This record gives sequence, structure tokens and C-alpha cells, in this order.
Amino acid sequence: MTLEAGMVAPGGTVGILGAGQLGRMLALAAAEFGLRIHIFAPESGPAFDVATATTIAAYEDEAALEAFARAVDVVTYEFENVPGHTADVLARHAAVRPGPRALAVTQDRLHEKDFVTGLGIPAAPYVTVDDLPGLRQALAAVGLPAVLKTRRFGYDGKGQVLLRDDTDTEAAWRAVGAVPCILEGFVPFEREVSVVAARSVDGAFAAYDLCANTHRDHILHRTLVPAGVSPRLEQQAIEMARWIAEALDYVGVLAVEMFLGADSGPELVVNEIAPRVHNSGHWTIEGARTSQFAQHIRAVCGWPLGLPERLGRIEMENLIGSDIDGWRQILQEPGACLHLYGKRQARPGRKMGHVTRVFPEGGTAS
Ligand SMILES: Nc1ncnc2c1ncn2[C@@H]1O[C@H](COP(=O)(O)OP(=O)(O)O)[C@@H](O)[C@H]1O
Ligand SMILES: [Mg+2]
Repeated sequence: MTLEAGMVAPGGTVGILGAGQLGRMLALAAAEFGLRIHIFAPESGPAFDVATATTIAAYEDEAALEAFARAVDVVTYEFENVPGHTADVLARHAAVRPGPRALAVTQDRLHEKDFVTGLGIPAAPYVTVDDLPGLRQALAAVGLPAVLKTRRFGYDGKGQVLLRDDTDTEAAWRAVGAVPCILEGFVPFEREVSVVAARSVDGAFAAYDLCANTHRDHILHRTLVPAGVSPRLEQQAIEMARWIAEALDYVGVLAVEMFLGADSGPELVVNEIAPRVHNSGHWTIEGARTSQFAQHIRAVCGWPLGLPERLGRIEMENLIGSDIDGWRQILQEPGACLHLYGKRQARPGRKMGHVTRVFPEGGTAS
């Protein structure tokens, strides 16, 4: 049997950059297709428990990257904050999906905002900030309240500070580490939502139903689906994700985080793009015909996408830090699907696992 160019056959190996829980769940999904997984990360992590092969090396280690790329059939990532050069080195020896451009655009908040607004998609007002006088100028332009965010390496609310009338500007600048930033106008959102979607090598696009997300201490706490927004807005959100995926010639699963505006201003504002599987899509393991992890594997292997169809009303809750102590109680609930990531230490703010509940549509608790 001959394969189309760029297609990985069962028995092949998918290489993943990053060893966290996303990599772990990707590896489990790959195993179900008879694929092998090789994880590349600077240190061991939850994905190592379920991988076929592992490499521990720095993302800057060109010799290790080359050996890794030669040992796999396709490279993808569960962690996007790798140096841009890493993707370029890998791309010389293996297919890298999504491609280096998706990575370059999404790992820098300034490039990401320029890209999104360049597509005509609304984003929060933003100004680039390189030093303290620049921050003062930006505040005059954007107004208060505003959010100062580092251009790179932010996640789970790290690398950002909310500025109000009484905030000491200099202290805020120090708090983000005095590194290149953007200042964003605060969006008085009514709700936070995300689109988790996939695009295949041949350009097919499939989106899951819109997710409604609530955060606790800037970390995703719960995802509810349906999101409870009008079908018109849900369609619009999905169309925005489709434009983004097409403009990046994206291959794989991506997530687009959005704010649903309150009162005046645009109804939908794009906040962030994650070039990978996303926490707000974890419910798809039990709650959709094709999980986001299986979908990502299908896409990066050059395979057709599976149906994203939702199988019920969804509640997904993250188990953060000491939440994991409730594991026995969750097991008492036969319908609750418990996922634990095998992390040894339950530090505050650390994602230890999640639990998904799928209810009959329109029904109440099972
Ligand atoms: N411009 C903004 N207006 C209002 N809330 C914001 C804004 N930017 C961020 N937030 C809040 O902070 C959270 C984290 O910000 P985000 O930009 O998604 O960074 P990350 O998820 O990488 O930490 C958002 O989910 C939202 O709750
Ligand atoms: Mg975010």
C-alpha cells in the first residue's frame, strides 16, 4: 500500500515536544491507533509514564533535536514556548505540525494580537511596552483598568498584572520582570468562552461546540458545554477560529480563547490562541465522538478528522493542588470520569487531574 506524502501509518512514531499532562493524554490517544510516542523534554514529566521513547535534553540542543526528528515520523507539541529556532531545526529533518509559523505567531502576544486584528477579528485594545516610560505612555493611550502582560512565556495568569487607578505603575513594571510587554485594555466580559477545533493536512476543519470557562486564581476551573450563548454567536466564534486556522495554514488541534463582551463594544473579542490541545477541551475524551487528543493525532498524521459531535451536557472540573485529595469521593460517583496525571507533589496552583461529567442533554445529574 502506498501512502500519500506526509501520512504516518499505524506503527509509526509521533514525536511530542513537552512532557506534561497534555503530552500524556496525546500519547494515550496515539496508542489507541497503534502509534508510538517519543517525548522530547528538558525534564521528566507526566507523559514519560506512557511514552514509548523519551529524550531529556534542552530545547536548544541541536544534536539532540536532530536525533529526535530523525527517530520520528512527525513532530508536534504539547508545549508551545519552545525557542523558534527549535522548530526550524526540527523542520529540516521531519514534518512539524502545526508548522513553525503557528508557533512564532502564538508565542509572542504582540505578534498574536497583530495577526488577529490583521484578520479583522476584534481583540482588546493593546499597545507594545518596552520600558517604564513606555508603560506610562501606554496607560495614557489605553486607559484604566488595563492588563500588563509579558509578550512571551505567560500562562495561567503568570506574567501579567492588572492595573487599576491605585496601582503603582513602577511596581507593576517590576512585577512582570521589566521585560517586553503589551498593555491591554481591560475587557468587561460577561463570559469567557473557547473554541477548540482541528484542521487537517488537506484543509478540512472541525470544531467542537463552544466551551464556557470559569477561572479560579487565573487557572481554568470549570468548563461547561453548551456554553449558553446564542447559536448566532456560537457560529461566529467558530468562524473566527476557522479564519485563524486557515490563515496559519494550521494542522492539528488549536484553541481560541475569547471574551463575550458585556454591553457596548464588540460581542466577541479574541484573547489568546493556543497552538495545541487545550484544557477547555478535556471533556471531549468522554463527551465527544472524537476526543481532542485523538483528533490532534489524526490531523498531524495526515489522516482525516473524526466527528467532533458532542454526546451530552458537559461539566469538566480541574483538580488543582489539594483538590486531588477528593479523589476517593469522586470515585464514589459512578458517572464521574476521573483523570489523574500522576504528578507526585500537589503544589498550590498545580493541575493534578480533572473530572468530567456527561449528562443526558437537557437532563439533570445522573
Ligand atoms: N484584557 C483583559 N480583560 C479582562 N480580563 C483579562 C484580560 N486579559 C486577561 N484577562 C483574564 O486573565 C486570564 C488569563 O489571561 P490570558 O491572556 O488568557 O493569559 P494566560 O492564559 O496565558 O495566563 C483570562 O482568562 C481572563 O480571565
Ligand atoms: Mg489564557
